[in-house]
Amino acid sequence: MVEFFIDGVPVQAERGQTVMQAAVASGHTIPYFCWHPQLSTPGNCRICMVEVEAEGGAWFDISCNMPVTAGMRVLTDSEKVRELRRDTMQMITLNHPVDCGICNKSGECMLQDHHFAYNGMPSLSRDPKQHATKFHDLSDRIMLDNERCIMCSRCVRFTAEVSKSNALGVQHRGDHSLIRCAADVNFDDDPYSDNVIDICPVGALLSRDLLDHARVWYLKATPSVCPGCERGCSINIWTRKTEWTLRSLDQRLNNRIDRITPLENPAVNGPWVCNKARDLAAIFERPRVTHPLVGGQETSVASAIEAAAALIAAARHPVALVSNWGSNEELAAFHATLAPSFQNFVKHDWQPQPGERLEDDVLIKADKNPNSYAARAIFPLLPSDASSAIPLSTDLVFVWGEGAPMHAIPESAQVVLLTSYALPENTRAHVVLPISIQTERAGHYTNFAGTSTGFSACGPAVATVSDAERLFERLFAAVSSVQAIMTAGVR
Ligand code: SF4
Ligand code: SF4
Ligand code: FES
Repeated sequence: MVEFFIDGVPVQAERGQTVMQAAVASGHTIPYFCWHPQLSTPGNCRICMVEVEAEGGAWFDISCNMPVTAGMRVLTDSEKVRELRRDTMQMITLNHPVDCGICNKSGECMLQDHHFAYNGMPSLSRDPKQHATKFHDLSDRIMLDNERCIMCSRCVRFTAEVSKSNALGVQHRGDHSLIRCAADVNFDDDPYSDNVIDICPVGALLSRDLLDHARVWYLKATPSVCPGCERGCSINIWTRKTEWTLRSLDQRLNNRIDRITPLENPAVNGPWVCNKARDLAAIFERPRVTHPLVGGQETSVASAIEAAAALIAAARHPVALVSNWGSNEELAAFHATLAPSFQNFVKHDWQPQPGERLEDDVLIKADKNPNSYAARAIFPLLPSDASSAIPLSTDLVFVWGEGAPMHAIPESAQVVLLTSYALPENTRAHVVLPISIQTERAGHYTNFAGTSTGFSACGPAVATVSDAERLFERLFAAVSSVQAIMTAGVR
């Protein structure tokens, strides 16, 4: 370790760390735009300038590229540093349109924050601003406002160093510079492209999905886990705050997922996610099953439990197909209650979709389910020839979740289905019990490496939709009482 001083406070730095890295690690604040802890250091924005006290006279340099040396005395808030920062902010905002009122980044923009903290002055320039393309399609997912771009090059470095698509570059020079896609690369082919929206320090890169949907201060973030593959990336799911509930517009706007962003988790995904996480609303917001069905007729939860319990108690060769979208808690509850009544197999609820990247060395894993690791630690995997596990003698199949090979279930077998979504195969089931989805309950998934991560509920499910964990307990109690009656009858 190396000791040096920030504003007179002794700081222990690791050998080789820059002043910026040591400052961030020790809780000191130095402003930055172009620096990012996971990217290379171009040192082009100059906002991180600090003063270094020295015997021969103080000197000034950018802290993001200055290695710490023993005994170094750094000042982050001297009169001269404040003056340099003001000048730098004047320079950076010279051609910036300052159209915060209509900008989607408002509320989480580093330029706004730094202007407020370090400048606060109107523009000193007497020249008209240099205009640039306002709405440039960088891809089908991302719009670029070149006037707001401060040329920090974070987005360019991301595609060169993290996603490795090399999709972005800088065209032209000086105040004519533009971020543009490489001529031979389609940015839509980069499955990590939307990370550039998060790391753009200003409102230059905008998600078409979120554009004009909601201001960020209307939204709350709920920590969750992406179920898109067995990496299990940590995410934030953004939904409308209750205090900003819309009363006169479409009420679905109050409950929808407005956006999904990465939740930094060094053990799993660092600060990144792939685009599949951003598009989870398309999975979670499919048409739902909200009422229990018995024989295709809507009924109460209690009646459906009773009907399912009668089938389970009477079955002689029952098979259960366990969901690998079930949480650790739900799997444990199933294992402790209903599992002994069945021959159990784990099925894949989701398979890779056409055109989807199967696997890479960034984040994406081939198994497109979040909890295969935990499910397979308890139950065996359903063989690819499903009929070998569900023989003709099977008289009941208990299906939990999606993706069951309905074609392999003997025609004579009854089906009890626990599902969340209204899918065509639901008609095969005699009893359908609606269950909550991940955004309506809390739990944990364990990823391919054995790391468990928790998720929280964004909001409650409707009353007729049960949590699977609770449902297993109710079903178990109902099956036990049917079996007790049957046993008493036999005596
Ligand atoms: S678009 Fe954003 S991330 Fe890219 S160079 Fe401009 S300001 Fe930086
Ligand atoms: S890598 Fe997997 S878990 Fe991570 S965001 Fe993509 S699909 Fe989700
Ligand atoms: S953050 Fe140091 S030069 Fe940009």
